Amino acid sequence: MRKVILLRHVPLQLKAFISLLFLFIFLISGNPVKAQTTDEEDESAIESHSHNDIQRGERFFKGLLPKDRKFESCVSCHILSKSDTMNWNPSAMDIASKFAGKDFADFQSAVMQPNGKKMEASHKDFKIEEEDLKKVKLYLDELAITGPHSVGPTINQIVIFILLGLLMTLALLDLIFFHKMKYRFVTILILLVSMVVQVKMIATAAIDLGRSQNYAPDQPIKFSHKVHAGDNQIDCKYCHTTVEFNKSAGIPAMELCMNCHVLVREGTNSGKFEIAKVVEANETKKPVAWVRLHNLPDHVFFSHAQHVGVAKVDCKQCHGAVAEMDIMKQTSDLSMGWCINCHRDTKVNFKDNAYYDSYMKLHDQLKGGGIDTIRAVNIGANDCMRCHY
Ligand code: HEC
Ligand code: HEC
Ligand code: HEC
Ligand code: HEC
Ligand code: HEC
Ligand code: HEC
Repeated sequence: MRKVILLRHVPLQLKAFISLLFLFIFLISGNPVKAQTTDEEDESAIESHSHNDIQRGERFFKGLLPKDRKFESCVSCHILSKSDTMNWNPSAMDIASKFAGKDFADFQSAVMQPNGKKMEASHKDFKIEEEDLKKVKLYLDELAITGPHSVGPTINQIVIFILLGLLMTLALLDLIFFHKMKYRFVTILILLVSMVVQVKMIATAAIDLGRSQNYAPDQPIKFSHKVHAGDNQIDCKYCHTTVEFNKSAGIPAMELCMNCHVLVREGTNSGKFEIAKVVEANETKKPVAWVRLHNLPDHVFFSHAQHVGVAKVDCKQCHGAVAEMDIMKQTSDLSMGWCINCHRDTKVNFKDNAYYDSYMKLHDQLKGGGIDTIRAVNIGANDCMRCHY
């Protein structure tokens, strides 16, 4: 009797189930509800005139206007998103903030009267109506305030996570109590798939927490180790001046960059834009906000002086092929196991280094032939107190 009453609701439950499923698929398949702007005729609907201009500026910047456009869109070079490889052109955000406080005439001459080799090559054949360029400036000014619109993957992920939880609860309730679904394997499949996706989401989030191997953030100036330490063979120690005798390696101040960039004002890859930032930072004495990559927790002691100055360990062993990196990247995970393993494996050049003279007993054993090699672990590098205080 009870069963019959409940059965009448089956289609409804099924409908709810399916719509939830669709909602989920819709969310997981990216974000199709991009704020797609409507046609020009629609513009009367937008109340604010300047908002309208900003939108036209945006469309122009993105190459949607004018319709008979013959040159590349601005956004194809001045990108709005982050890229994995070095994009040497100034980003849209970069040019937006550079010209935010300046008036239109400055902007116009910067765009339309190219100055320097790179700029002449990139901005040649630009035919832009002044009215259009004014709107582009309005759009960029707006961008400088609001920042690039993020797609909001985190919000999406939270929603997906919650929906998956809901799906799982429904599926579980159905399996145990309601038995509304005609085909039980469908319910089980939904349950399993949801579970796998959720576990994967948790796992990736947990791994990213704290550890930052392969972390390679955008930097305020497109400084390339490949250009400097690679192509131009500048010694690491020329810039990281304290690495041999100090705990930290040090990041160079702009004065040091100016040793060369007093003369070198245009780069092959980036033109004048990036080096102009170096010059300006040096003039205003405003420190550049480099994003720090390597960062051990506070309870760990590490000294470059010990490793580079005393033990003569090559930077490469810990930092990878820096001289080939356009964007600096952390190559080691900086875990405790990483330190300990290297101390077990690495031989110390004991004989020719005055630093180790005080290890009398080990020297005697070496001479007596009791041992033939000394590794870092033998001189206490793996004692807890050496790394933790
Ligand atoms: C011309 C100056 C210069 C030279 C030469 C140079 N660096 Fe750097 N280095 C910098 C600057 C500036 C930064 C900060 C910006 C960045 O991270 O890209 C930096 C950052 C780093 C970092 C990352 C620091 C962090 O944030 O954790 C490492 C590691 C590093 N350099 C290693 C090296 C090694 C190894 C060499 C030699 C192969 C080298 N550098 C040569 C200027 C230089
Ligand atoms: C034995 C491994 C090891 C070697 C060798 C090494 N580093 Fe480091 N480096 C590290 C670790 C670990 C950190 C993070 C330190 C921290 O967070 O306190 C670091 C951080 C840095 C930083 C960031 C700023 C700072 O000092 O904390 C720079 C720059 C750097 N190293 C450059 C170099 C250069 C240049 C060399 C070679 C001359 C070198 N390192 C050799 C392990 C090493
Ligand atoms: C020892 C000389 C020297 C020092 C010091 C130096 N640079 Fe350079 N830099 C160069 C040379 C050479 C080029 C390549 C110019 C070219 O492409 O012809 C260059 C290019 C650049 C470029 C443009 C890259 C490109 O290919 O477009 C930037 C940006 C830059 N340097 C930033 C810096 C910063 C920031 C510092 C200080 C941390 C610095 N440089 C220190 C010599 C130096
Ligand atoms: C083919 C690639 C390319 C396209 C397309 C392009 N740019 Fe550029 N733009 C560059 C490069 C490269 C630079 C930096 C060159 C330099 O500083 O030497 C630059 C620089 C700029 C600057 C800064 C000038 C300065 O003096 O600091 C502005 C502003 C600018 N572009 C606006 C635009 C606008 C607006 C459009 C679209 C109408 C556009 N760009 C299209 C490549 C491009
Ligand atoms: C590439 C190999 C290598 C890696 C990676 C490495 N070390 Fe070392 N470390 C050495 C060598 C070689 C010595 C021996 C030098 C000495 O003690 O004179 C040493 C010695 C030490 C010492 C002993 C210094 C003393 O008082 O004599 C400490 C502390 C230390 N390392 C900390 C660390 C920490 C912390 C890490 C990880 C973040 C680390 N090391 C990663 C090679 C390495
Ligand atoms: C060669 C250097 C070194 C030595 C020796 C060392 N540690 Fe560590 N320890 C580290 C580093 C680096 C970390 C940070 C790991 C991370 O952030 O993932 C760490 C983290 C830890 C943590 C925090 C847990 C964690 O994973 O963050 C504990 C607890 C710890 N160590 C205990 C010890 C004990 C006990 C000893 C002695 C047996 C010891 N350590 C010896 C380098 C060392």
